[in-house]
Amino acid sequence: MAISSACFFFFLCSLFLSHGVLELEASHHVDQNLQVSSTTPKYQPYRTSYHFQPPKNWINGPMVYRGIYHLMYQYNPKGAVWGNIVWAHSTSTDLVNWTPHDPAIYPSQPSDINGCWSGELDDTKYEYYTIGTYNPDKDIYVPDNGSVESDLGLRILWGWLNESSILVDDIKKGWAGVQAIPRTIWLDKSRKQLVQWPIAEIEKLRGHQVHLPQQVLKGGLSLEVSGVTAAQADVVISFKVSDLGKAEVLDPSWTNPQVLCSKKSASVKGSLGPFGLLVLASKGLQEYTAVFYRIFKGQNKYVVLMCSDQSRSSLNNSNDKTSYGAFLDVDPIHEELSLRSLIDHSIVESFGGGGKAVIAARVYPTLAIDGQAHLQVFNNGTENVQITSMSAWSMKKAQIS
Ligand SMILES: *[C@@H]1O[C@H](CO)[C@@H](O)[C@H](O)[C@H]1NC(C)=O
Ligand SMILES: *[C@@H]1O[C@H](CO)[C@@H](O)[C@H](O)[C@H]1NC(C)=O
Ligand SMILES: *[C@@H]1O[C@H](CO)[C@@H](O)[C@H](O)[C@H]1NC(C)=O
Ligand SMILES: *[C@@H]1O[C@H](CO)[C@@H](O)[C@H](O)[C@H]1NC(C)=O
Repeated sequence: MAISSACFFFFLCSLFLSHGVLELEASHHVDQNLQVSSTTPKYQPYRTSYHFQPPKNWINGPMVYRGIYHLMYQYNPKGAVWGNIVWAHSTSTDLVNWTPHDPAIYPSQPSDINGCWSGELDDTKYEYYTIGTYNPDKDIYVPDNGSVESDLGLRILWGWLNESSILVDDIKKGWAGVQAIPRTIWLDKSRKQLVQWPIAEIEKLRGHQVHLPQQVLKGGLSLEVSGVTAAQADVVISFKVSDLGKAEVLDPSWTNPQVLCSKKSASVKGSLGPFGLLVLASKGLQEYTAVFYRIFKGQNKYVVLMCSDQSRSSLNNSNDKTSYGAFLDVDPIHEELSLRSLIDHSIVESFGGGGKAVIAARVYPTLAIDGQAHLQVFNNGTENVQITSMSAWSMKKAQIS
């Protein structure tokens, strides 16, 4: 019965335009053994509230048709693992709230040509998602008029987030895989890199707001942010460091930000940092996910490291708790260090430096769930940092299914 999660990659196919006509290569193997009947448990501490996720199973990419976003995803009406796949269909006008529709496509035979679509990128290397008519006899797909939109005015990147729990837990909770919050992408004013930012529509879900006044956060201290639903929140904070003189020297061998973040986790004291947010934290800090900065003195400039440290995110050691990191192209002498985290029960999506680095983590706390989750601003460096602004919002539930 065991199946590797990698199997799911098989379903991450999309339609690609090839010389005006979509050429389909289809493969979908329906394995009866992979169909388990299960009921989704009522107690769902990890289920997200404003990230798109189907009732069960797998998701594919979105497409736009006459101004309406369509999301087709793999769905197994009979079980929590894949098998018996139909293409389920939801539509949205804002990429936040969704209306479910009847499944778009059913498999018509055990090894069904309609089951999974893939193709080749043409010379233009552009990817399009379209609605159209598929002619099974000729194996040709013709997109409808108006379904290929060359320029939406915005470039939207919509990723998919894997679980980092073990397969038995995925089966137990009855679902696996969620969509990230769609991001707008644009070229930074330096013209050196792309930046990513959650689509503005997500702010419609912001409810009660808590604000912290500008203040100094002394080395070794932390501040509890109360009054928001910490398991379902949007947090925006900015820091300013006035004295960089004590910054730790960056060893020239520390070139891999992820390795550096694992070596220097939130619990390793530094001078300028770690400072940032403790999210999905339990009352006694037995569990927390730490999203933070450290500032180092490099060869001829200061180097800012952003980390998302999952090492203490859960007391359950069966989950993958790898930390992630990125060096951020921000000059801490002249610029504030901003951080935004979208927290949704088992997701922490963090945007550093206004979207210059983005880290999305999946975490499964056992204590810091729902009303037991806390949010803190922390500074575990020896030097003071200034919080220049901080707002946190309780997030409402999106309409998803
Ligand atoms: C699609 O649009 C083109 C150009 O606007 C038009 O010539 C053609 O007849 C349309 N086709 C259909 C099936 O509506
Ligand atoms: C998803 O995560 C699981 C468990 O960590 C891993 O085994 C699997 O390879 C991942 N799948 C994809 C498609 O990345
Ligand atoms: C801060 O550092 C101390 C000492 O290293 C450590 O015990 C504590 O867990 C750290 N705090 C966080 C939030 O990691
Ligand atoms: C926690 O860990 C145990 C042992 O590895 C595992 O069986 C269990 O399913 C895990 N998950 C939860 C949510 O407790």
